[in-house]
Amino acid sequence: PPISPFAIRFDAEAATLSPEGPTLERRMSDLEGLFADHDAWQAAVADGDPVVYRVQSSPVPEADRELPQSITTIERGTTAGECWMTKGHQHPNHQGEIYLALHGTGGLLMFDGDRVEWLDMTPGTIGYIPPGWAHRSVNVGDEPYSFLAVYPGGAGHDYGWVLEHGMGNRIHRTGDGFALRPYSA
Ligand code: 6PG
Ligand code: NI
Repeated sequence: PPISPFAIRFDAEAATLSPEGPTLERRMSDLEGLFADHDAWQAAVADGDPVVYRVQSSPVPEADRELPQSITTIERGTTAGECWMTKGHQHPNHQGEIYLALHGTGGLLMFDGDRVEWLDMTPGTIGYIPPGWAHRSVNVGDEPYSFLAVYPGGAGHDYGWVLEHGMGNRIHRTGDGFALRPYSA
């Protein structure tokens, strides 16, 4: 049945939506093949398999013509110097999406298979993901990084694309911040 109009409250500081829908937890073991240093990834899985990020959805369904949203919170951490991040994906039908940064300091890494783009994401920034750009979020700050995503309900998530093509750059923590480094499988 179609859903009726309703209000969603969000708390930027706590990074929560209310009413809430399903929450997804991604642990280190869910990020196989994504960090450059496979041994360091494996060691982190063995050492408690920490939660890297959570995605809390609103009750709007992921269905065609709907416009669902979710808040992602990425913990602060590094794996062999690489900043903790989302898996990253391509929308199979190349639909666009917007992200609104809520808390902490992050970045939005985008790759279209050829060109790489990086957007600094701090509270108040809307990052626009154009059709056809794979996207990954990265926590480059000292606290959890949260953002709200709004996307077409029929967009879908193709994670295989990123495993096959990479994301163009990797993001490493440095002494006084972070650095984008070229991708080497
Ligand atoms: C989406 C959004 C966003 C994303 C999460 C987790 O299309 O739904 O881009 O909600 O799914 O930030 O990132 P991964 O889906 O790459 O794990
Ligand atoms: Ni997306």
